[in-house]
Amino acid sequence: MHLKILVTAGDGIGPEVTNEAVAVLRETAALGGHEFHFLERRIGGVAIAHDGSPLPAETLEAALASDAVLLGAVGSPEFNSLPPEKRPEVGLLQLRTALGGFANLRPAFALKELAVNSPLKPEVVEGADILFVRELLGGLYFGQPREWNKATGEAWNTMRYTREEVVRVARIAFQLAEKRRKKVTSVDKANVLEVSQLWRATVNEVAVEFPGIAVEHQYVDAMAMHIMNQPRNYDVVLTENLFGDILSDEAAVITGSLGMLPSATIGGKVNLYEPVHGSAPDIAGKGLANPLGAILTGALILRHSAGLEAEAVAIETAVRKVLEQGFRTPDLARTNSQSFTVLSTTEMGARVRETVKTLLVSA
Ligand code: NAD
Ligand code: IPM
Ligand code: MN
Repeated sequence: MHLKILVTAGDGIGPEVTNEAVAVLRETAALGGHEFHFLERRIGGVAIAHDGSPLPAETLEAALASDAVLLGAVGSPEFNSLPPEKRPEVGLLQLRTALGGFANLRPAFALKELAVNSPLKPEVVEGADILFVRELLGGLYFGQPREWNKATGEAWNTMRYTREEVVRVARIAFQLAEKRRKKVTSVDKANVLEVSQLWRATVNEVAVEFPGIAVEHQYVDAMAMHIMNQPRNYDVVLTENLFGDILSDEAAVITGSLGMLPSATIGGKVNLYEPVHGSAPDIAGKGLANPLGAILTGALILRHSAGLEAEAVAIETAVRKVLEQGFRTPDLARTNSQSFTVLSTTEMGARVRETVKTLLVSA
């Protein structure tokens, strides 16, 4: 297997966590005799500082020429006062648009090894396994018109969807549900917003193509509560762009830390892989970042872009084993009720690598 992976590490903890993900992927490739080529390019704040643009042309070119893109995170406090179109985050939004992936898969799962680390009760989170399918190229993030009119003291954004945009992402959600527990929960605000009424009507149309899948609709405000109260009720959760952004960070609580969640964006020219978390400026450069979300994102590259399912499972199993042995990064070691061994970012990466090796050599 030959794979060209572009690594855009970005800002804050982005380089720290992607280093560990790449090291795990290199180990996996070496053990299986696969050729993975890694190329690094700038994005976000580091790219603004160095190239004057959050998405330099050479980064975009390299992304379009690769088999998969692994992104760390973008965003840095020094750029917080810039208007949206000049910020590091716009580099990521431009990259998403250029790559064309419209379905952002964000699995949020309760690992039994981490039940004690979630602020929710173990009996609430145990067994929870939600797959968010977040629409990634539409809605408020991209709708026109958008403006902050400083003269009149008004600002506006537009939440806009076409029927086709909803159909294509809904189909992905239903197809994924066929391989899981056969339930799709679609999230909207159809009691207030026309765009949500279109969303709901379109999801119902698509549901007809999938008679084996149960479909239900929830308003986003109620859904924010339901996923904390009864996370096990949900299988595939289909959302528009902003609702999915918010609910997936909330669902990190089920897992125990935002640093655990991986994501994959599919449906476009090149798949884009990013952990769900951001650049975490509060802990950047200190070796405190949890690399497991990025490492699990690496596993998704193997699953969705390389067809290496056994290797993807080996990485996921290694993560569980390391947690089972009591190793934690500080974000996960929130309770004193058990004795954990607290590791730095690189130490955690090394543990996962060793365990992947043991698993793949004995397989
Ligand atoms: P954040 O996700 O960076 O951090 C939220 C909290 O979670 C912080 O306390 C942070 O320390 C903690 N955290 C996040 N990832 C962690 C990890 N791997 N290990 C341990 N702790 C972790 O969100 P924020 O603070 O709201 O945003 C910071 C910057 O990141 C902003 O500029 C934002 O726009 C950007 N951002 C980027 C992405 C992305 O590039 N994909 C995603 C989200 C936020
Ligand atoms: C995410 C982030 C991004 C988003 C930002 C940084 C543009 O929060 O990937 O969850 O809102 O999509
Ligand atoms: Mn987010």
